[in-house]
Amino acid sequence: MSRRLMTSPLPGRFGHKHLLGIEGLSPDEITLLLNTADACVEQNRRVDKKQSHLRGLTQINLFFEDSTRTRTSFELAGKRLGADVINMSVQHSSIKKGETLLDTAMTLNAMSPDVLVVRHPNSGAVQLLAQKVTGAVINAGDGSHEHPTQALLDALTIRRRKGRLQGLLVAICGDFLHSRVARSNIYLLNAMGARVRLIAPPTLLPREAERLGVEVFHDMRRGLAGCDIVMMLRLQQERMQGAFLPSTREYFHFYGLDAEKLALAHPEAFIMHPGPMNRGVEIDSEVADDIHRSLIAEQVEMGVAVRMACLEILTGRLRNDTGAR
Ligand code: NCD
Repeated sequence: MSRRLMTSPLPGRFGHKHLLGIEGLSPDEITLLLNTADACVEQNRRVDKKQSHLRGLTQINLFFEDSTRTRTSFELAGKRLGADVINMSVQHSSIKKGETLLDTAMTLNAMSPDVLVVRHPNSGAVQLLAQKVTGAVINAGDGSHEHPTQALLDALTIRRRKGRLQGLLVAICGDFLHSRVARSNIYLLNAMGARVRLIAPPTLLPREAERLGVEVFHDMRRGLAGCDIVMMLRLQQERMQGAFLPSTREYFHFYGLDAEKLALAHPEAFIMHPGPMNRGVEIDSEVADDIHRSLIAEQVEMGVAVRMACLEILTGRLRNDTGAR
């Protein structure tokens, strides 16, 4: 049997060839991804972390933007499942010589990768590329559009700590305007029945955000009241042209998470941040490093498991122990 026939999709379970965003995924599909990831967490906590579900398959990681956590965890995820993993970064590719995105995609496609993991600075670029290649494409972040695996790893982290997503009150605070993380999290949390509050200065949080089905706050103290999860966003200065803020010092005063502001959230609220963190800009070290409240290291651990789950599901090579919860 050819490899393509063996890697059949899962009818009625995960109805997509690619993972380009959270928008459009059903609660059942999100639950399947999270349940599969739970099994991967167990695998990753063993001494021998290697399996062979993806043996014979090729995964290419194509990153047009810098990344530490996302690229490393996709690489580890593929290797732990037994795939052959190739990392391509723009610095060492022909893109530096002027090759276009689609020419690069076609070149890589000719090498028959089963999965392409792509990060690109332009919103929509990953979707465009997905239309041109044969294998499955996973969006590892496109511009300020979506970052689906980040939202999935955040959801997995929350679900394992709180036992559910349904009914939780989640505050997402900071630079919403430039954040693909926030957008994907909003889609996911809304789909799973959580309530989302967005907290940011008006320059970084246009009123139109309310159309995403969230409550908008410009006063952090009011927005944090009673929240179960406080998710901080990095101030993405590399995406800002012009002045969005008077100064980072003033930003921290009004929107930086410190112990005093955190005290307004639910007494058992957890703190999250996708990383990389700007300490003293959007988050104070005292709360970021609080082992009782901060889930930031756990998010990184869950990132590997979630990316393994995405690879298994998109290649149709699911493990057997993934029961519905
Ligand atoms: C995020 C990203 O790249 O969108 N980081 C990540 O993937 N862990 C968030 C950010 O860069 O602030």
